[in-house]
Amino acid sequence: MNRYQLILGVFMLFTLCNCTNDIEGDKVVFQHATLRPWFDNNCARCHSKGKNNYLHWLYNPNDFETSFSTHYANQIYKLVSEGRMPNDAILTDEEKQTLKTWYENGRPSR
Ligand code: HEC
Repeated sequence: MNRYQLILGVFMLFTLCNCTNDIEGDKVVFQHATLRPWFDNNCARCHSKGKNNYLHWLYNPNDFETSFSTHYANQIYKLVSEGRMPNDAILTDEEKQTLKTWYENGRPSR
């Protein structure tokens, strides 16, 4: 086996190993047991596709990495901590803390 065959072999191995069940197509699905329902309950009514405010921020649980990019995750942390989102309800301190703890732990998708 020459060097190029070896590189190709390693590359193909990586490609094959990349198919775990939390990836739909090439997108990571948001499956976190606590935070998925948290966002579904508190944010989806305005920020899912087709809702009034999805152009400001699209919450798409089937595309975790876009929905929670560094830019949006930082904004979400700030808006929720300051009580500015959701803007039609008041979260309890405990609900805010749930979001903050998740963010501070590196915002895992599951
Ligand atoms: C009742 C509707 C409503 C709900 C519920 C709601 N939002 Fe919003 N959101 C808005 C509106 C309106 C805007 C745009 C105006 C603004 O920035 O205040 C917005 C804007 C945003 C933005 C973009 C801000 C910017 O500066 O561009 C983010 C991020 C966001 N919301 C996150 C959230 C999160 C996270 C939740 C759930 C905790 C949530 N929103 C719940 C109505 C809502």
